[in-house]
Amino acid sequence: MTSLRVLAVASEIYPIVKTGGLADVVGALPTALRAYDIETRTLVPGYPDVIKALPEAEELLHAPHFFGGPVRLLGGSHGNLDLLVLDAPHLFARPGNPYVTPDGKDWPDSGVRFAALSRMAAEIGQGAIPSFVPDVVHAHDWQAGLAPAYLHYANRPRPATVMTVHNLAYQGQFPYEMLDAFGLPPESFAIHGVEYYGTISFLKAGLQFSDRITTVSPTYAREIQTDEGGMGLGGLLRERSQVLSGILNGIDISVWNPETDPDIAIRFSATELESRATNKLTLQHRLGLDPSPNALLLGVVSRLSWQKGLDILLENVPTILGEGMQLALLGSGDPDLQDRYQAAAKANAGRIAVVIGYDEALAHLIQAGADALVVPSRFEPCGLTQLCALRYGAIPIVSQVGGLADTVIDVKEADTAGGAATGFKFGPVTAEALADALHRANILWHDQQAWRRLQHNGMSTDVSWRNRASRYAALYRDVIAGRRKQ
Ligand code: ADP
Ligand code: GLC
Repeated sequence: MTSLRVLAVASEIYPIVKTGGLADVVGALPTALRAYDIETRTLVPGYPDVIKALPEAEELLHAPHFFGGPVRLLGGSHGNLDLLVLDAPHLFARPGNPYVTPDGKDWPDSGVRFAALSRMAAEIGQGAIPSFVPDVVHAHDWQAGLAPAYLHYANRPRPATVMTVHNLAYQGQFPYEMLDAFGLPPESFAIHGVEYYGTISFLKAGLQFSDRITTVSPTYAREIQTDEGGMGLGGLLRERSQVLSGILNGIDISVWNPETDPDIAIRFSATELESRATNKLTLQHRLGLDPSPNALLLGVVSRLSWQKGLDILLENVPTILGEGMQLALLGSGDPDLQDRYQAAAKANAGRIAVVIGYDEALAHLIQAGADALVVPSRFEPCGLTQLCALRYGAIPIVSQVGGLADTVIDVKEADTAGGAATGFKFGPVTAEALADALHRANILWHDQQAWRRLQHNGMSTDVSWRNRASRYAALYRDVIAGRRKQ
């Protein structure tokens, strides 16, 4: 097997900058790919936290005028990650969330910021740093979407390109007037170019011009080809269905390992599930919940956005209380949902606990201490929290969409799905259907033997990157081979 070089391009990477699962994937996949002889370097923006994480970085390039200011390309490593960093103080030297201002608005120049990132990826793709000329440029989400377009319009020999959609809801649309500032040629503003309903769409550009398109689960790959799930891009995705595939995400099983996790009260394996009771009690104590071992404790770790369907869980507060369950929710996002959850917690102290914010350590404790993890998403490209739940013996209760449908086996479908039951699924995504799933879970909870079986099945499910990374490795080799034949 010859070794391959991949330039991954993304706007966030765990453990340095993370707002969601994209960072987890981009941070874990390179290490898993090494087993398949694939060397990945990841190009990320030089946010303050990135610059701080690479104190020994080496300057590989500099340009005095690049999208409005002087920039440098830095190279360095952080833990297992080999990074290339676009150090562009005028675009990225801003603390906090990478996408929004301190008062919560999108940065007005995000188009230019991520055009610059994509442009640098294209330059590297064309040999700008002779020590690393990639065979494949792998763009993640809209922020990297222009990279395949720049490579296309450069009209020079180029590496193969892969575009991965982590979430079709975020498309990166900017006014037509920005075409010149983005350095795109006039002819690119066309239906088979970057044009999208009169605007410039970064994600569309990536979908149009990449050699292969992937998304993060087989079911989501099908859903996005429909008018309903395609969010305006269904037609293009149908047109390109021959090059579109779904590859499930894994999780980093060294970060998510109940046997070694430093953030939980007591570590455990599948043969020591009684230890989970201590984690449950610690969680209850920490969040002010009644210390009752018998109440089914539901956990949620999530962004609070329309996608995640947490409004329908809120509608189920009467079910939760009526059936004697408890709820521990950690999340942040939509101010209205935050307020409504806080009000529910206030009105039901001891039964419902809500922590608004982002807290990795608490996320681990919830996975270790909650009995079940609820993910009622309206759509979910893959979802990672249900994978963490499987690994920690928390039973996932999920809606039957996207990657949730692909990674959880319902008690009812266990015989036909060719695997052992690991959780509960519901559909359609309504409060009533969720109520039914909660009710089914609560009945099983009171049959401790059956519950243990579900936990064991979940904990022996392979949620690691190992096999899933092999799919990316095969895809890279395949797309390169296909281009050689052309
Ligand atoms: P998405 O990327 O759509 O937000 P995923 O399930 O793919 O959803 O990934 C979410 C990631 O972010 C998981 O690693 C999860 O543990 C983490 N996460 C989400 N919300 C929080 C929070 N409030 N505090 C800590 N971690 C969180
Ligand atoms: C997106 C999706 C989520 C997926 C993650 C990583 O944020 O919302 O479902 O797991 O990307 O691919």
